[in-house]
Amino acid sequence: MAPESDHMVANAEGQTITRPFKKTDKKLYIESYGCQMNFADSEIVVSILASHGFSTTTDSKEATVILMNTCSIRENAETRVRNRLSQFNRQKRENPDLIIGVLGCMAERLKTALLDEEKLVDLVAGPDAYRDLPNLVSTVVSGRKAVNVLLSREETYADINPVRLNPGGVTAFISIMRGCDNMCSFCVVPFTRGRERSRDPKSIVNEAESLFGQGYREVTLLGQNVDSYRWNITKKSEILNSDEETVTFSQLIEKVALVHPDLRVRFSTSHPKDMTDDVLSVMSKYENICDYIHLPVQSGNSEVLQRMNRGYDRSTYLERIASIRKWMPEAGISTDIITGFCGETETEFEDTVSLMEQVGFDFSYMFCYSERPNTLAERKFEDDVPERIKQQRLTQIVALQRELSHRANRKAIGKVFKVLVEGDSKRSSELVSGRNSQNAVVVFPKGNFKPGDYAKVKITNCTSGTLIGEAVN
Ligand code: SAH
Ligand code: SF4
Ligand code: F3S
Repeated sequence: MAPESDHMVANAEGQTITRPFKKTDKKLYIESYGCQMNFADSEIVVSILASHGFSTTTDSKEATVILMNTCSIRENAETRVRNRLSQFNRQKRENPDLIIGVLGCMAERLKTALLDEEKLVDLVAGPDAYRDLPNLVSTVVSGRKAVNVLLSREETYADINPVRLNPGGVTAFISIMRGCDNMCSFCVVPFTRGRERSRDPKSIVNEAESLFGQGYREVTLLGQNVDSYRWNITKKSEILNSDEETVTFSQLIEKVALVHPDLRVRFSTSHPKDMTDDVLSVMSKYENICDYIHLPVQSGNSEVLQRMNRGYDRSTYLERIASIRKWMPEAGISTDIITGFCGETETEFEDTVSLMEQVGFDFSYMFCYSERPNTLAERKFEDDVPERIKQQRLTQIVALQRELSHRANRKAIGKVFKVLVEGDSKRSSELVSGRNSQNAVVVFPKGNFKPGDYAKVKITNCTSGTLIGEAVN
């Protein structure tokens, strides 16, 4: 017999089709794009909807509600999402009760456009509106439009216990703040995520403790600019003598590091204008705070950095790198770089190349500049570097980075690292894969190691992307 929710309907062409669910069934399929913050937010969304009776499925065909948590950072990020939404709309033609919703940065940036004009979705929820999702879904079920794109100055979802989408995993994200107040001229994030706000440190430490208890062995603390994390605790007990105590980012990572020596702590993203030696000092004091910093430079030229409104110049950036190396001589350092920002000349671009060589980044995320509507750069500068040049410059630095990564990896040969095992290697189930403190991927024979174990691994070989080694005692 067919399951209860199966029933026959006629589609537009008059053919009879089987509809595998009813409007009121609660099966959620969620897909995430963009930064780690979005992936962490999806776990909050699942938690909120689970408490209203939704179960999740990894098969979009089974879903009654499909949510896409989207990214607006570059135009091609949005194009990918639109293509995917069109695919889901073809599925909806067969199952008209299917609810399709957009969350995240595209929802916030485009507001009702994806619903009213492009007719790609039934529901729109911005990054601060996820508590409203059960209500928004009910609104759609009752046949009305559902939109909430209000940004908040307070929302941090501090009390919501994220449902981990990789249960039994080893590594997890913890959001420690939301929004961004920096206004880098190329960047859409301040518009899509709203004002910066920090989350209560107690709820952060509790989440880390709970993850450790569940078997997780690494947490990554997330924020667009973690160095400006700041929490003011008002001591309410002595009303007459009320004073404020502040928890800064360096104090926060110390609190999380103290959860357990076997819980590794990472964080992202640091900002060159705000990263303090306090943070570096705490990092060097605790073995379980990883010796790894992602410090996006964007450009190696001071004039370009000024047009980008980044708040530092080339020499300040290099001074920050020197400081990292002083506190942690073995630290892994990675970066983000944009090629072809407004007005970038060949000489200015060459400064990026020379900075990459000078720092010797272990890894870089590299992008062609993509103009975003309403950003400072869109209003103030012309997007005048031809696409072909942006791409050429990108190709050049991608090749350079491969060389730098290979060089850094070759230097690791012969060294012994403590590696947190994350799972089987992609290449073979005889091998396991994990990362060292510096965030390099290390692959070695499985032996009796299982995910969550720490192994001492001696590096014997490498590629530009992976260290290869064997476990030693
Ligand atoms: N908060 C982080 C960055 C978040 S966005 C920071 O300040 O470093 C991640 C990266 O995307 C940025 O570092 C930048 O390199 C890139 N990016 C942002 N806007 C972009 C745009 N309009 N075009 C191309 N790359 C962009
Ligand atoms: Fe965007 Fe700059 Fe904020 Fe990073 S710091 S999210 S690049 S505005
Ligand atoms: Fe993208 Fe929004 Fe993150 S624009 S990079 S998903 S904050």
